Amino acid sequence: MRPNLKKILFITSFIPVIIFKVMARVGEATLEQAKMATVVGLILAGIQFFLSKRFINHTTYLEKAFLGFLGVGTAWVYLTPTHLSSLFVDHSTTLLYFVLFLTTLVPQLFRYDPFTYAIAKQMAPERVWNTPQFRTINLHLTYFWSGIFLINFLSSWFGHGKPLFSILIPLVIILGIGLPMVKIYPNFYLKRQFIPQPIDPSLFPKTAKELILQMPLAFNSAVAGSLKADIQFDLSGEGEGKMVLSIAEGQCTVHEGETPSPALTIISPGDLWLKITRREIDPARSLMDGLYEVKGDMNLLMKMGDLFRPPAKIKSREVTQKEEKRVKILAIQGSPRPKVSNTEILLREFLKGAQSQGAETETIYLKDKDIHSCVGCYTCWAKTPGVCVFKDDMPELLEKVRDCNIIVYATPLYNYNMTSLLKAFQERLLPLSDPHLTKTGETYRHPPRYEVNRKVVLLSNCGFPEISHFDGLRHVFRHIEQSGQIPLVGEILMPAGELLKNESLREKLQGVFQATYRAGIEVVRDGRVSKETEMQVQEPIFAPDELAEMANLMWDSHLQGITQGKPQEGGIEDMRLLLRGMAATFNSQAAGNLKATIQFEVTGKQTGNWFLSIENGKCAFREGKVNDPDLTIQTSSEVWLAIANRELDGQRAFAEGKYTATGDMSLLMRMKNLFGSQRS
Ligand SMILES: Cc1cc2nc3c(=O)[nH]c(=O)nc-3n(C[C@H](O)[C@H](O)[C@H](O)COP(=O)(O)O)c2cc1C
Repeated sequence: MRPNLKKILFITSFIPVIIFKVMARVGEATLEQAKMATVVGLILAGIQFFLSKRFINHTTYLEKAFLGFLGVGTAWVYLTPTHLSSLFVDHSTTLLYFVLFLTTLVPQLFRYDPFTYAIAKQMAPERVWNTPQFRTINLHLTYFWSGIFLINFLSSWFGHGKPLFSILIPLVIILGIGLPMVKIYPNFYLKRQFIPQPIDPSLFPKTAKELILQMPLAFNSAVAGSLKADIQFDLSGEGEGKMVLSIAEGQCTVHEGETPSPALTIISPGDLWLKITRREIDPARSLMDGLYEVKGDMNLLMKMGDLFRPPAKIKSREVTQKEEKRVKILAIQGSPRPKVSNTEILLREFLKGAQSQGAETETIYLKDKDIHSCVGCYTCWAKTPGVCVFKDDMPELLEKVRDCNIIVYATPLYNYNMTSLLKAFQERLLPLSDPHLTKTGETYRHPPRYEVNRKVVLLSNCGFPEISHFDGLRHVFRHIEQSGQIPLVGEILMPAGELLKNESLREKLQGVFQATYRAGIEVVRDGRVSKETEMQVQEPIFAPDELAEMANLMWDSHLQGITQGKPQEGGIEDMRLLLRGMAATFNSQAAGNLKATIQFEVTGKQTGNWFLSIENGKCAFREGKVNDPDLTIQTSSEVWLAIANRELDGQRAFAEGKYTATGDMSLLMRMKNLFGSQRS
């Protein structure tokens, strides 16, 4: 019912402007007729806006654009003197194209969803909305449409008054180029992305069921790391059956049957899954075409190709063929953090992407290396050319640098720059430069001493939420690029990087992980990271104000000793942070048009009253008590935090009276879905 309603409202969104144009006789009307036309158009646009808000809780860019256009038009014709108001009447078509041009261009520049996104969501099934391909295709099409509207605007402007230029040509462009492109482009894009590399079918079992039962043999524990997840297969057709792959503690086991809470569910015809595994057909394309269905963690789906290697016989043959031209990547990791750092999380994702394309990778952890500061003696230039006086870990690292094809500088942002560990390392690269001053471009530099056959990738994250904090670091790397004549082929920069370790944000972080993984693929496959991928890594998870609020809560909780000063290691130890986090990970799709308040009356170690207020697809976290909450949860902070951290089972704790809930119990039941990615 709802998708149909969405489609109907999408079609009716054009009615206000069509009626306006008809009543205004496509610009030929008298001022009085035009005045009437704008008012009628505005009223219809207002009704359309109201209906969309009321019934589908969402208004499209088109509705907003038309409402704005007719609102401004009405004010224009009524409030300005006659010679000015007739300007609107004369140029209304041109202005409309201009408004459409801005509507298609501006949102994505400010990191809002692209124009075509909402429309494409009505055409494509929900399972593909989260895929990077869906997003990229929409971004391309949106820019394409802004180009069309710009051309139409110019045509209408320069051919003013002539229907050929303001109506006929624009219509031909929209119907003859725009709409066919929307149909053709997604397939064209997907075809270009996937190059079939079929693996000899004789090396695979005959049915998908047998294949899945053998998958633990092909499991790659190094790629899995600390991953813990159940993958449910629901196969139909030949070799049908239900099977579960369980990944935990670096091991993979398989059993037939079902699991209650899989991280990923794959529902597919058996023969299709065999073809995907044999790399005969494109998994993304098949998913978009609805040939199989996936529920749950799309990130995990994308990783499956790496988690499970193709049969050994194939691999060894392929590897020997490619061995000589394997890309060697050397990652220089400059975070001083003793345990897994945010930089490391991003770097691993990037390297996994590169490995999937056959690259050989090595990571150097600078914090574990003995690297003396450069003392500027120039011995490596003057007395022993190319050789430094210090015999620490650096001489060996210089060899590795010279030997690699791509060097990845991975560093957290420290004081708008790289860390001192990485800075010291880079200073000690001096033996690789020649002392003579040579002019490259506008300025003099020291040229490389040896022939250089490598490229540079910069990978960084910072604490603050804005991308502008990286300006200085980027600038430095542009100079390094020119100086060493080593092309900088990728900038993977993530603001608000402290979110990376937050388990409860896994779903929200999927976009960043996928883009970083793709960056690794691109750098090996295409020789550089695409601008699009770089932009996707930068896409904010939260608005800066929201991020700051959460960060400040976290610091307060540390300062008040609630966490005994321990930095968080996955577990949530503060009720306010937990509830704020629930609001942040609120699943608006699961909520629909739910309007409710949930009051928490908390006793125990961290006493207080807080509530979550759900309305218009948003969830707000507030301190205090609300009148007539729909649901009241009375709990000690210890119990609720234990549930959130999965130390206690929520349902059992309720049955045992460890916490009480009064009011709308169906709301209590829905909480797991409403705050889907939250641990509770
Ligand atoms: C000494 C120091 C300086 C920092 N300077 C900045 C900065 O200038 N801008 C910023 O946004 N974050 C800054 N941060 C925050 C880190 O970039 C951020 O915590 C990052 O996620 C750490 O990454 P890591 O876990 O890989 O070490 C700084 C942190 C420290 C400890």
